[in-house]
Amino acid sequence: MRFAPITDRLKDLGGDKWAIHNAARDRTARGEAIIALTVGEPDITPDPGLVDICADAMRGGRTRYSNGRGETGLVTALCQTYAPRMPGIGPSNVLCFPGTQTALFAVILALTDKGDGVLIGDPYYATYDGVVRTTGAHVQPVPLRMERDFVLDPDDLRAAVTPESRVLLLNTPHNPTGAVIDRATMRTIGQVAIEHDLWIVCDEVYESLIFAGEFVSPLEMAELRERTIVVSSISKSHAATGFRSGWAIGPAPFMERLLPISETMLFGNQPFIADMTEAALLGDYDTSERLRTALGRRARLAHGIVAATPALSACLPQGGMFMMVDVSATGLDGEAFGWRLLKEENVAIMPGSAFGSRAGHLIRVALTVPDDVLGDALGRMAALASRLARQNTPEHA
Ligand SMILES: Cc1ncc(COP(=O)(O)O)c(C=O)c1O
Repeated sequence: MRFAPITDRLKDLGGDKWAIHNAARDRTARGEAIIALTVGEPDITPDPGLVDICADAMRGGRTRYSNGRGETGLVTALCQTYAPRMPGIGPSNVLCFPGTQTALFAVILALTDKGDGVLIGDPYYATYDGVVRTTGAHVQPVPLRMERDFVLDPDDLRAAVTPESRVLLLNTPHNPTGAVIDRATMRTIGQVAIEHDLWIVCDEVYESLIFAGEFVSPLEMAELRERTIVVSSISKSHAATGFRSGWAIGPAPFMERLLPISETMLFGNQPFIADMTEAALLGDYDTSERLRTALGRRARLAHGIVAATPALSACLPQGGMFMMVDVSATGLDGEAFGWRLLKEENVAIMPGSAFGSRAGHLIRVALTVPDDVLGDALGRMAALASRLARQNTPEHA
């Protein structure tokens, strides 16, 4: 039997990235005490009030087909939410999706074709590669440098552009590095997009989890609005990953093209989840605030331990749920260090190699465990790094 070429393009994307995570999960299932700093799942539950709204909506019969764009109440709430950033926003600028991931998938499907280039800061979120490859497009990596706190350098972006480039995919706050793009940099990045007639797709799923500086969206910049599409969700802001509720916001002519793709994929979303999302957007829930406070505190805690360990280095994350740690001074790459950390210290992390082509010397630490557990895990990491560094140091008589 034959399969479509897309299955070949995506087939080597899964497995290996998750090998340490899977090994840790298996050992945990066998009753071993492993600290998992692998996935970015908020460590609190959604507000009970939101769960009630969802359940009540189901009981109240909000269980029928929706339309392709999204429930009117949710679309209106999204217009209200984004109006300060996008004056004049209306329903024709909004489409609801089951999560940022689906929104991103549909948007890239609508923007790229075989041979097109998608510029992405590297390291990048693990699914981006697959999303881009789906259409036969390819990632054009733009180096994110630790010495710039992993913030995209507009000059690096300019250097990476080729005639194939069609889309610039931004993510701020950034997974895996915790970088946040500041206003001046966003403006200059936008100028590059204008010069080369690029679409800007901005993944803002961590918008509310920012602990230093201000959040800046390209949507705020009038000169970029006609070429900017924002994707986001309530997954992180409301600790509601499993609800799968997100959206895309963009210029009406593009959204008009996106709508049939969404309709053929989804045939509409779930009204009871739309009701809960509408309430999440308009209501006064403290989930983001609690997460933001905890993640900021843990970022400083984890960074402090790394900074005190000569064999490790890291930038202090400005937002999001993760910190990247450079382990190269231990003599190992991120993958080998990760396996040793799991074997010798019972701590699981993601190797940097899971996030693009430039992060082989890094590991990603999720800040999604309680402070004492995180401190314990980082302490063990520091102990392993110091041991390895000592072994590498030539002995002098
Ligand atoms: C950068 C980034 N984008 C998108 C997603 C997926 O978000 P959603 O749950 O809204 O699909 C994640 C999840 O970890 C992420 O880190």
